[in-house]
Amino acid sequence: MKNYLTVNNLSYSYPDGHIALKDVGFALDEKESLAILGPNGAGKTTLILHLNGILGNLTKEIKISNFEYTDENMANIRKTVGVVFQDPDDQLFMPTVIEDVMFGPKNFGFDEKEAENLAIDALKKVNMIDFLDRPPHHLSYGQKRKVAIASVLASKPKLLVLDEPGSNLDPSSRRELIEILNNLDVSKILVTHDLPMALEICKRSIVLNDGQITRDDDTLNILRDDEFMKNNRLELPYGFAFHHLGEE
Ligand SMILES: Nc1ncnc2c1ncn2[C@@H]1O[C@H](COP(=O)(O)OP(=O)(O)O)[C@@H](O)[C@H]1O
Ligand SMILES: [Mg+2]
Repeated sequence: MKNYLTVNNLSYSYPDGHIALKDVGFALDEKESLAILGPNGAGKTTLILHLNGILGNLTKEIKISNFEYTDENMANIRKTVGVVFQDPDDQLFMPTVIEDVMFGPKNFGFDEKEAENLAIDALKKVNMIDFLDRPPHHLSYGQKRKVAIASVLASKPKLLVLDEPGSNLDPSSRRELIEILNNLDVSKILVTHDLPMALEICKRSIVLNDGQITRDDDTLNILRDDEFMKNNRLELPYGFAFHHLGEE
């Protein structure tokens, strides 16, 4: 299906008057993976909080599989779009991992047994099935991150939105996360500062700067455009070489 998600002329000001989004527009195809890049304060988190209706008060500027963001569609939209917050501690609050991951499906009306099956499936996808009886708050940051992703995946969203999922991960956890995300058969929107991660997961990226989209292009084209990168305060890690990715 074309244009699975569309965002048209979306603007948003916080109650204090700060304009965080200005005329943001883009469309996403089904099964597409899109990265949202941009410096701190660009409006990335503000944008994705609109995608499952946390911010924006049922804005008409967004549609998902042709559903407008209206009151009556909201339950459906929350089920379709799963948002993984930047801080896993904002997502995990139950006494055990399995209860945390079952919480979403139960909330969406699945019975205990179905919710458990969905949770087990989701925990397998993030390599955390051996931790199901553990208290989430005793896990390492990387493990919490994976459980937070499972807790969203368990409700079977069609679009998975992740806010900086790679932050504070050691290199092997980061590598594992990239593999996990690349193996998920859903549409993805990935907000990240980790430009090589964006390149590995998302063929296409949009760049936000000061609340506006300054580019919507192949991730590779963006990362290779030194002048654009500099003007948008984006920087590849020191020593990054494109041929590490089989390029050139
Ligand atoms: N609750 C809020 N009230 C007022 N301004 C906010 C609030 N949250 C974020 N902002 C401002 O909105 C802009 C965009 O923030 P944010 O979406 O968090 O950016 P990013 O995720 O790209 O770092 C920033 O200037 C930020 O200071
Ligand atoms: Mg943010």
